[in-house]
Amino acid sequence: MLKIGIIGVGRIGKVHAESITKYVPNAIVKAIADPYMTEETEKWAKSMGIEIAYKDYKKILEDPEIEGVLVCSSTDTHSQISIEAAKAGKNIFCEKPIDHDLDRIYEVLDVVKETGVKFQVGFNRRFDHNFKAVKEAVVNGKVGEPHIIKITSRDPEAPPIEYVKVSGGMFLDMTIHDFDMARFLSGSEVEEVYAAGNVLIDPKIGEAGDIDTAIITLKFTNGCLGVIDNSRQAAYGYDQRAEVFGSKGVVSVSNDTNSSAVISTSEGVTGEKPLYFFLERYMQSFADEIKQFVEAIVNDTEVPVNAMDGLKPILIGMAAKKSIEEGRPVKISEVEK
Ligand SMILES: NC(=O)c1ccc[n+]([C@@H]2O[C@H](COP(=O)([O-])OP(=O)(O)OC[C@H]3O[C@@H](n4cnc5c(N)ncnc54)[C@H](O)[C@@H]3O)[C@@H](O)[C@H]2O)c1
Repeated sequence: MLKIGIIGVGRIGKVHAESITKYVPNAIVKAIADPYMTEETEKWAKSMGIEIAYKDYKKILEDPEIEGVLVCSSTDTHSQISIEAAKAGKNIFCEKPIDHDLDRIYEVLDVVKETGVKFQVGFNRRFDHNFKAVKEAVVNGKVGEPHIIKITSRDPEAPPIEYVKVSGGMFLDMTIHDFDMARFLSGSEVEEVYAAGNVLIDPKIGEAGDIDTAIITLKFTNGCLGVIDNSRQAAYGYDQRAEVFGSKGVVSVSNDTNSSAVISTSEGVTGEKPLYFFLERYMQSFADEIKQFVEAIVNDTEVPVNAMDGLKPILIGMAAKKSIEEGRPVKISEVEK
């Protein structure tokens, strides 16, 4: 039985702990750590069968029985904790993003290479049943050579302003998943980005130096073109769709709903709204990404989303930010160090 430690038990740390307990039969969560450990979290841990709750994550790194750690703490702690975990010989699953600072990401990449530990990044949408089906259609040649990738990614509500202030901006916090999806579906690297953004939902987001609405066009090295549209607030809920148009056809997926019931009456035709937000929409993908992390450790195989996959969307996000600031297309090579 593989023993796992979870560092940071807020929203996503708890999701991963529950996934392991319910869906990963060959792993258990031995310990959790969070400096703001509450009685409520300790109670929750007990109910999940987790033996130990620390305040200091270093205790997890010192435990020789723990082979894998999940870094689910606040973003500004990911790189430091990952570096220490790698040096302690732990295999690492790190939530997105690795960091907002390129030098610190490169440091993580170097330490991971030197120590040879496994390092997976939490781009869970690759494991979502819909997006996986799109990818399979592309890989199996069903739509031919990809020519246009379209991704719609709109949240149901904007986060609190305090969150916006430390989020690193919409591109590094939210669109980062779409940049990863664009690479995943195209099977190619992004070489140029042209972005337009605005503040249309809440002026406080603008005052905090961020945007809440954006269109980003992408040029890939294989010639394919992409467009991502983002909003922090869609009135009808979490809107998560993608389409790949290619030389032989097109593959697209629509939103998941609680049911596919459509009610038609003399007044009109209505159906269900999309599932509310990421905790409802992406639970299956969160479980599957952790299952595969565990498999990679147990079978000593490659992780499905590696450290480079963690870096690339950050570079695209930085180029998108620069594009807005300078009002021009920006090449990825301009932001790389
Ligand atoms: N893949 C996804 O879809 C997804 C979804 C949500 C969050 N995330 C990422 O997960 C991370 C956490 O997000 P969240 O929504 O769970 O936030 P959260 O604020 O709910 O939880 C973060 C937890 O980390 C703890 N923490 C802070 N410093 C720590 C330290 N030094 N050691 C241990 N714990 C520490 C905090 O006390 C808190 O409990 C963020 O980086 C976020 O970007 C990813």
